[in-house]
Amino acid sequence: MAADLIAPSILSADFARLGEEVENVLASGADIVHFDVMDNHYVPNLTIGPLVCEALRKHGVTAPIDVHLMVKPVDRIIPDFAAAGADYITFHPEASEHIDRTLQLIRSQGCKSGLVFNPATPLSYLDYVMDKVDMVLLMSVNPGFGGQSFIPATMGKLRQARQMIEASGCDIRLEIDGGVKVDNIAEIKAAGADTFVSGSGIFGKGRDSDPNRYDSIIREMREAMAGVGR
Ligand code: DX5
Ligand code: ZN
Repeated sequence: MAADLIAPSILSADFARLGEEVENVLASGADIVHFDVMDNHYVPNLTIGPLVCEALRKHGVTAPIDVHLMVKPVDRIIPDFAAAGADYITFHPEASEHIDRTLQLIRSQGCKSGLVFNPATPLSYLDYVMDKVDMVLLMSVNPGFGGQSFIPATMGKLRQARQMIEASGCDIRLEIDGGVKVDNIAEIKAAGADTFVSGSGIFGKGRDSDPNRYDSIIREMREAMAGVGR
């Protein structure tokens, strides 16, 4: 079974001290950095771009950076994120005119590729591109904002995505994004996820008595998942 990866979404970090926040959450036991890119067009919010990704690398962040593109169109910006140090680049199929081409573009830039599914987006987009995907990301909220509640129908969709991945025989991670907290992470893992994005669940409430540390919230997430199969 693939290792559980905890991926704090920096959307809920203190942007005025972003380098330190990322350093601290990784030192507290997180595995990868989830980097939400929003364009005020595909989603009604505006966040960060390649310059910020590059700044984190220059700050000394060596952990994988998981770039979640909520932008339309997507192709133009992909080489910029690859050059800025992204490891994973995922995008929404509705935001690309040529999904297969975009997946190939990501890999040609030396990154791992992924497709992101909104709550109402069918998994059938995967049918003919399974071999070109390294990550399947299921949104358990509608994209655009942190701090929303997990949409329960995503549990069944996770099970379906897990079955599709196992049947393909490909090495693909299954990531969940939106409303992931200590109290639902075990059930989410049991439904099939192996990569867990959490923004407000970690940065919002998870500060230890030392406001720069997140050890206890990450430990609680791992404890909740211990012994749970997928
Ligand atoms: C929403 C983003 C998420 C967001 C999750 O569009 O893709 O990554 O930060 O935030 P929480 O964990 O607070 O739901
Ligand atoms: Zn995200």
